[in-house]
Amino acid sequence: MTTFPEAFKSWTIRRGLPTDGPELLRVHSSAILAAQGRGYSQEQLESWVDGLLAERYGEAMTAGKEDFLVAVSGDGTVIGFCSHHDDRVIGLYVDPDWSGRGIGSALLRAAESCIAEQGHRECGLEAALPAVTFYESLGYRRLGERDVTTRGGLFVRVFDMTRHLR
Ligand SMILES: CC(C)(COP(=O)(O)OP(=O)(O)OC[C@H]1O[C@@H](n2cnc3c(N)ncnc32)[C@H](O)[C@@H]1OP(=O)(O)O)[C@@H](O)C(=O)NCCC(=O)NCCS
Repeated sequence: MTTFPEAFKSWTIRRGLPTDGPELLRVHSSAILAAQGRGYSQEQLESWVDGLLAERYGEAMTAGKEDFLVAVSGDGTVIGFCSHHDDRVIGLYVDPDWSGRGIGSALLRAAESCIAEQGHRECGLEAALPAVTFYESLGYRRLGERDVTTRGGLFVRVFDMTRHLR
């Protein structure tokens, strides 16, 4: 029988805080780099991570540019996050050590609830190639695809997607 340490047994979702910056950076970077073999090259993944800064998350929160929901393990460690603004999900990342446990889905649904509470009927997002099937499994449909430039200066294919909020 597999046994997990205490911290692996439970997780909860709370609002993000500016002081979460370093942990958000760790989750963000590790989630991207773990997407190896899902459509982007290693160079593209590294270029997606390039230029991420711990202080950017708190700045986005305090400037009202992004609201963050974070998933935390039983010992308070940040293990995932979803940021959103107006009628859009901006980012969704789960620590690869915690993937496949429903955390990404729960964060996305929680962000959709916040968006719906603000009166929006649609939730839009720009999906990275490795996450397109994940979003489709959660009711999102493709509107189109295009190439964007990463912070590191490489082109990557992304998909504009949307889901109707009931
Ligand atoms: C995509 C991501 C957020 C999913 O988080 P997660 O916590 O592992 O997802 P869940 O456990 O809620 O998965 C829900 C379902 O989607 C599936 N799934 C998870 N990641 C997937 C992926 N990349 N592609 C296809 N299906 C995926 C799971 O197998 C699960 O299916 P099931 O319910 O039939 O078992 C996470 O893998 C991640 O951070 N990826 C790298 C960064 C990224 O691409 N983020 C999106 C940027 S737009």
